[in-house]
Amino acid sequence: MQIYVEFGDITTITSDVIVNAANGALSGGGGVDGAIHRAAGPQLLEECLTLGRCAPGDAVITSAYELPARHVVHCVGPVWYGGERNEDRLLASCHHRTLELAAEVGAHHVTFPAISCGAYRFPINRAATIAARTVANFMASQALPDKVTFVCFERKTFRAFNKAIEELHSSQQSP
Ligand code: APR
Repeated sequence: MQIYVEFGDITTITSDVIVNAANGALSGGGGVDGAIHRAAGPQLLEECLTLGRCAPGDAVITSAYELPARHVVHCVGPVWYGGERNEDRLLASCHHRTLELAAEVGAHHVTFPAISCGAYRFPINRAATIAARTVANFMASQALPDKVTFVCFERKTFRAFNKAIEELHSSQQSP
């Protein structure tokens, strides 16, 4: 199973699908959302604004315009409120829904940022474990995508995702 972690800016990664950490209005924002919209150009926002709202845990797909990708999947992660508002389930759901949309367009390689780990304040180690498990479970049962990369913009996020992937591999190897 090809799951990788890289350090850097997601807008520079060539991939079939780049995933955006969007808000429910799909109206653009700061963080990775701002970076993706800047790199894609204004047509991305124009398309997003035709799509209506997207609920936390869900995702929508658009073209990628000037990005080095075919599509952008905009997924809406949960805001962290302490863990009592279904945050874990919603974080898993937005990863799962993203992969379903990517598979529908025949994507082999999907690149995720650390959804909900910035402005939405999800604890990073917990988010990394949920993201890694959800992606691995999906890939184990579906032909596409066959490669997923998590791109991390900060050292602490990079460490957390590497640890989560290592734990995944060791749990798969144990009898
Ligand atoms: N490439 C990769 N990762 C990035 C980049 C980038 N260019 N820029 C920021 N990040 C990282 C952040 O460091 C963080 O680890 O993306 C992760 C997610 O952070 P946010 O972008 O703040 O996303 P999130 O926590 O899901 O909050 C979403 O923020 O920008 C708004 O419109 C967006 O309201 C929504 C909210």
